[in-house]
Amino acid sequence: MSYKSIVLAALVAGSVCLPLCAQTTLKEAFHDSFRIGAAIHQAVFTGGDAGGATLVQAQFDTISPENDLKWERVHPTPQGFNFDPADRYVEFGEKNHMFIVGHCLVWHNQVPRWVFEDDKGQPVTREELLRRMHDHIAAVVGRYRGRIRGWDVVNEALNEDGTLRRSEWQRIIGDDYIAKAFEYAHEADPKAELYYNEYSLENEAKRKGGVELIRKLLAQGIPVTAVGLQGHYRMDWPGVEDVDASIAAFQALGVKVNITELDVDVLPRVRRDQSADVSARAEGGANSNPYTAGLPAPQQQALADRYAALFGVFLKHRDAITRVTFWGVTDRTSWLNDFPARGRTNYPLLFDREGKPKPAFDAVVAAARASR
Ligand code: XIL
Repeated sequence: MSYKSIVLAALVAGSVCLPLCAQTTLKEAFHDSFRIGAAIHQAVFTGGDAGGATLVQAQFDTISPENDLKWERVHPTPQGFNFDPADRYVEFGEKNHMFIVGHCLVWHNQVPRWVFEDDKGQPVTREELLRRMHDHIAAVVGRYRGRIRGWDVVNEALNEDGTLRRSEWQRIIGDDYIAKAFEYAHEADPKAELYYNEYSLENEAKRKGGVELIRKLLAQGIPVTAVGLQGHYRMDWPGVEDVDASIAAFQALGVKVNITELDVDVLPRVRRDQSADVSARAEGGANSNPYTAGLPAPQQQALADRYAALFGVFLKHRDAITRVTFWGVTDRTSWLNDFPARGRTNYPLLFDREGKPKPAFDAVVAAARASR
């Protein structure tokens, strides 16, 4: 079945789906296709957000930690690890029999300054940074060996033109920091799936760079299980044909493809590019927050159609895709209320601010049914 026919069938089914689809869950609907997940924040697994926890338990069969396994959280000082929240996160996943993802080991954001500096504030040597990277990965991956089943090993190493980002990792260690991170992760848990995770790979130049990077790593025998397409999308970007082409391009290299941070920003653009780089913030102008009183029906329907089209592509590629994870659970707690401009009211997910399924939920469930 082509994705266009899946989408068509889903749109037809969607109009009669409301009473039926509300009874099913995402993990049931996608059971035969791929795992379906959500990134969760601390309150979900420590009891503060009981509604969120109930929703996650009911709907999803895989979880990712929104922030609690990032370097600055888990390893804030040279001497000290703080594993308490991460331990609770893993316990929550185990209790609910979920596939537990780790995010993320090596990234240029949310990593403390000390990692790159000696005690005089000077940049450390390549050998010292490799040692720190090794020890961090050995400690974090090692602690959850056999429990966290897949790791985002390197996050966002590419520039928009497909060249390697001049992060401190790259500057101090050199281009092989990526291969080294995968080697260390593999050594710490030989059975864990290891991922390269990135945004905007749907754009041709960056996709070419990504394909080249993964091809080289595989040729060196580096165990890359999957490429993660973050999936921070907008209503008008990327085109579904570019999503389609990206999944196919990475599958052709012999790796799996995961959609790892899916959401659809419905608010006006406040930046020219569609960077998901969390350090790239912007000011919201006067008209940048139009839906504070709720998302009007036409926009709500357009979002449902957009999700149906995206899931049409994902379902078409179900042999390549092992997991589709949303970046958040409800619109209320989505990071897109504060990114790239702070304090806006966004509607990027399948559950509304009260945790109720939106028309977009029905649309993706209908897409799953139509593809059977
Ligand atoms: C975001 C979190 O959702 C926010 O809470 C945090 O303030 C910044 O990071 N790409 C990634 C994620 O790989 O780690 C980012 O998560 C979103 C973009």
